[in-house]
Amino acid sequence: MTADMFDPAQYAKVRLPPLQAETLPSWCYTSEEFYRREVERMFGRSWNFIGRADELPQPGDYHALDLFGEAIIVIRDRTGTLRAFANTCRHRGTKLLQGQGRCTAIVCPYHNWAYSLSGDLFSAVGMEQTEGFDKSRYGLIPIRLESWGGFVFVCFDPAAPSLADYLGDLPERLQSYGLDDMICVRRKDYDLACNWKLYLENAMEEYHTPTVHKLSIGAQVTLRERTRGAWDGMFMPSEKTIAVLAEDIGSAFPPIAGLDAKAARGTYFIVIYPMTFFAFTQDCCWWLQQFPQGATRTRVVIGSSFPRATAARSDFDERVQKYYRRWDKALPEDNAISELQQAGIASSFARPGRLSHHELLVHGIANWMLDRVVGRSVPTI
Ligand code: FES
Ligand SMILES: [Fe+2]
Repeated sequence: MTADMFDPAQYAKVRLPPLQAETLPSWCYTSEEFYRREVERMFGRSWNFIGRADELPQPGDYHALDLFGEAIIVIRDRTGTLRAFANTCRHRGTKLLQGQGRCTAIVCPYHNWAYSLSGDLFSAVGMEQTEGFDKSRYGLIPIRLESWGGFVFVCFDPAAPSLADYLGDLPERLQSYGLDDMICVRRKDYDLACNWKLYLENAMEEYHTPTVHKLSIGAQVTLRERTRGAWDGMFMPSEKTIAVLAEDIGSAFPPIAGLDAKAARGTYFIVIYPMTFFAFTQDCCWWLQQFPQGATRTRVVIGSSFPRATAARSDFDERVQKYYRRWDKALPEDNAISELQQAGIASSFARPGRLSHHELLVHGIANWMLDRVVGRSVPTI
């Protein structure tokens, strides 16, 4: 692509106020070089949401995942603490674990080096004659992991502020949902041919809802939230949960106990930058993680959580099907339109467009990304 793709002047029109601004140039959605810069300057320095703590309830439960090209392990140690490590053996680098499961030790499939659940190398048979080899210096490489409300985040940057600083006032805003007491009941993956930003932008705008979702959830009308921290949000007033289709509202679970007055009257749509959309409604929450697989592929994971008291109901398995029905109907509509948008934006004739007042966070997402990936021009006096 163009040599000056990282010149802030290229983005002067994206930097204007939303209703004067243009959308991002198409290379931001198609260029591998641009994507690599996003990884280096944005994903690599941010707190990235990777899953719920209750998905790994027992010591030894692990989840091996790929985060923009970095293989990591998230594992619960013997004391019950969640830890994250680079998924690479300290001997000759082999990937240690794959997928999800439970283990008593992390054992390399190549030469059998064994690490404790806390990452210490405790067995390296065959290394007895290696001079000056000290097992205590070859533990797994730790990665920062912090949680809020049962949501687990990792960060590759040792110099980044804490997760609490990163999230700003979000935990306080969402306090009444009792998020620590929720349990993830389902996650589902989709592998999509689109840039991660297209999917996130779609999740955070209501402009498409009357057309794309005309046969499912229909039009949505939202109000932007004022925020402090690495997040942005909208609130949609609604008397009842929006996690079931209107025709299934009779099957909805009771609202979460103790919701504050605002939460009881609607739904928060939140983006925690850089890559996760969350919806918090009266009876549950769900999220969409955009795990980029390069410039033009994204693995989208939808996860859903309910209060433990709801999930323990005898009728839970039956009634939750209505929720799954809603997500399984609306999400493929978003998936299809995002892939279609990617297919169009790849045209050499694609040009930046303009934004409606129904999609102000498309502008917000672009500018948050640009602040980190490209920066701003130094003003000339
Ligand atoms: S690469 Fe892991 S034990 Fe050799
Ligand atoms: Fe949508």
